[in-house]
Amino acid sequence: MDKKTILVTGGAGYIGSHTIVELVQKGFHPIIVDDFRNANKTVVSGLTEILGFCPSIIHVNVCDINALEPVFQAQKIHGIIHFAAYKAVGESVVDPLKYYKNNLQGLVTICELALKYQVNNFVFSSSCTVYGEPEGLKEVDEATRLSKANSPYGNTKLIGEQILIDVQAQNPQFKCVNLRYFNPIGAHPSANIGEFPIGTPSNLLPYITQTAIGKREKLTVFGNDYPTPDGTCIRDYIHVSDLANAHVAALNLLESTSTPFFEAINIGTGKGTSVKEIVDLFETNTHQKLNWEIGNRRPGDVVEIYANAKKANDLLNWTANYTVEDAIVHAWNWEKKLAEND
Ligand code: WQD
Repeated sequence: MDKKTILVTGGAGYIGSHTIVELVQKGFHPIIVDDFRNANKTVVSGLTEILGFCPSIIHVNVCDINALEPVFQAQKIHGIIHFAAYKAVGESVVDPLKYYKNNLQGLVTICELALKYQVNNFVFSSSCTVYGEPEGLKEVDEATRLSKANSPYGNTKLIGEQILIDVQAQNPQFKCVNLRYFNPIGAHPSANIGEFPIGTPSNLLPYITQTAIGKREKLTVFGNDYPTPDGTCIRDYIHVSDLANAHVAALNLLESTSTPFFEAINIGTGKGTSVKEIVDLFETNTHQKLNWEIGNRRPGDVVEIYANAKKANDLLNWTANYTVEDAIVHAWNWEKKLAEND
């Protein structure tokens, strides 16, 4: 039986590349659509090492409809997973137009082509950031009121979800799932692919592993005076391979549903872990001493947020398999692999 072709925009990126692995291993034929502006070219050799072949790659900017349309003309596309977007929260505050232009234009372009070529299975990369700072809530489910996100980046996810609601309302054959990621961490267990932060990492775990490997002098824990058990912020950290598998589950769900279909689904472990706990788990599981200090709070940080993952469990028949400890060890193995190749 012919394999179903899935277009993966941003497929050379962190979550995208891990999703390529899971798609191939679950019998799909993924095509990476990426202009590598936010991806490291070594991901290609890493994917080839894992898969035993080089995946299909088309170097295209998803905002360029003239460059992208031939991809839809060349083959029957069964589904789309749309990752391609800028995702640095801090940068989005400094340069909002860069984010609104790229993230929204890219989504509009891929939707135009999906409708024109009847590609009716669409998975959108959204984020828990659409919940903003949920009033007094720690555990959020999909019915939690969405609020103005804490950054232009988060707003592009909020607006992106609204765009898809409006598109689907006028095109009932267009089936869509918005996956709201919590905090993706870790790397593929083989250490052949992982996260390539560009410049200084803003996210916690890559900063920890770069400090431990000697690329960074010290980790600063942004505040320990929050109203949490140990005073540091709490997040729902999910292994990137579990997150990747949620996309495969979303495609299978879309395949099995009838129209109309539109769902937003949290993808998290359902468990909160504090910054201090991550630091302690890193030292315990890698046997590496970490140089860290307490610093000031980081503006915009949510105190505590983690997923109610029941809908993902029930609707996607999906649950996270890896633990936070697994993700920390895999992230460290990846950092050591990068250091070998430096
Ligand atoms: C986690 C905790 C920091 C770095 C962001 C985006 C979200 C998603 C994931 C894209 C916070 C603390 C961090 C450091 C620290 N990105 N921290 N020292 O902010 O929860 O989420 O990344 O989809 O949309 O908002 O993740 O890893 O930046 O921070 O103390 O050097 O670690 O204060 O409490 P965040 P993060």
